Amino acid sequence: MITYKHFTLKVLHIAPECSPLAKKGGLGDVIGTLPKALKKQDIDARVLLPAWPGVIEKAAKIGKLNKEPLGKISVALNWRAYTASVLEADIGGLHVYLLDQPELFSDPNIYPERLDQETILPFVFLSFASFELPKLNGWKPQFLHSHDWTTAPVSAALRWHRYYSSFNEDYDTVFTIHNLAFQGIINHSVLDGWGFCPDAYSNLDSDSMEFFGQLNVMKGAITTSEAFTTVSPSYSWDIQTPNGGLGLDGVIVANRDKLRGIINGIDYDVWNPETDCFIPSNYSLKNMSGKEECRKALLKECGWKDDGRPLLIFVGRLTEQKGVDMMTQALKSLLTKKVRCVIVGSGNDMYTRKITEFEKENPDSVHATLEFNEDMAHLTYAGGDILLMPSLFEPCGLSQLIAFAYGTIPVARATGGLADTVIDADGSTDGTGFLFTDYTPSELKKAIERALEAKKDNEKWNSIVKNAMSADFSWDNSAKAYAELYRDILTSD
Ligand code: GLC
Repeated sequence: MITYKHFTLKVLHIAPECSPLAKKGGLGDVIGTLPKALKKQDIDARVLLPAWPGVIEKAAKIGKLNKEPLGKISVALNWRAYTASVLEADIGGLHVYLLDQPELFSDPNIYPERLDQETILPFVFLSFASFELPKLNGWKPQFLHSHDWTTAPVSAALRWHRYYSSFNEDYDTVFTIHNLAFQGIINHSVLDGWGFCPDAYSNLDSDSMEFFGQLNVMKGAITTSEAFTTVSPSYSWDIQTPNGGLGLDGVIVANRDKLRGIINGIDYDVWNPETDCFIPSNYSLKNMSGKEECRKALLKECGWKDDGRPLLIFVGRLTEQKGVDMMTQALKSLLTKKVRCVIVGSGNDMYTRKITEFEKENPDSVHATLEFNEDMAHLTYAGGDILLMPSLFEPCGLSQLIAFAYGTIPVARATGGLADTVIDADGSTDGTGFLFTDYTPSELKKAIERALEAKKDNEKWNSIVKNAMSADFSWDNSAKAYAELYRDILTSD
């Protein structure tokens, strides 16, 4: 319990995504769920989010939006003041502050294609807005918790900003790395316009944001936050190696005393085949007949007749990280006779084109929905047999956890959060999936073949499905771990 007589632990999460209001990937799910789970730990956790196009309308539609702004906040950037109205909303028990600033928050895609002095400004504004918020309503968190490079300037500003460094004693900061591949690397000339002092880029200080002649925003958060975390224990070790560290391994090793790996959870209010209203028939371990109905519905959606071939599914971002190229190569020789594949996800043009080609070449075996489509994602998880997750690296991964809940069995590469959550069914009676290690199409193919073999053995398959569906990855455990981290930081102050 973190409530003392006159003391409630308050945490502000600062991020550019928060499901269901704004979501591009797993980060959105985490920000939309973790604060609610923290509430159950008696922590008053709230979210600061930009009002990207459509967000205010969505908040009014699905939640309770106070149309009367709480007030205005201004932040000085590049020698001018940017002002935002702050709106308050309750989204299913989640307390969200929305920054209404259409000039900065105009991109419905949230993340810019290229990072430069202009395109980074929305994120710097979001970060600094966290220091201005308490002036509006007196709600002053002890913790500012930022996520990924976009809000990494929060803790860096408390160290190096000419004005905000005066708040350094007021806050503790936690920084969570959801993906080290994006570090916010940019020319250091931007720093002056943000109000940072030259020390922030001093090459005499190994903790500064200097990084091979450029500015690395994420490095600044790693060195200046009270603690930093990754979204699985294995990923916290991966990023300490030259391979996984992507240039930051040295910095991470030097700061490892304040690093923790805390596995994400999933929201079982959303991802539960027993109650899911997106799927045509509900089911649970006690009665699995609905899964067969969902399979039929998925086949119909793809325009296919059932020929008994297992349905492999992929639900996620179409990026290099997710092993999309390797997946299509491994599938080539399997598709004609052995399996079919349903793909749901969005990605950049290159991958969208590749998958469209792949679908055209295999009309009877590959079906792709190339957008983030919630209905189709739910139906695919429920109707599929095997989930493919051949990631090059995976900080946590949510798809495998969702697949477990729907009795869809993952074939996954043993990396990061996948290694932490999937148990290989050929090595253990507690198995929940099939793992492979080397990042090659042939190794992935072998793992798929092991899964297909297991699927032929009803008894074995049912026990894997049972293990998967009984696995508990609710947010409660993760929230407890974060609560413990906050408490440890407070007591060591
Ligand atoms: C990123 C990571 C993914 C993780 C998610 C939420 O999208 O790539 O592995 O699950 O963030 O933390």
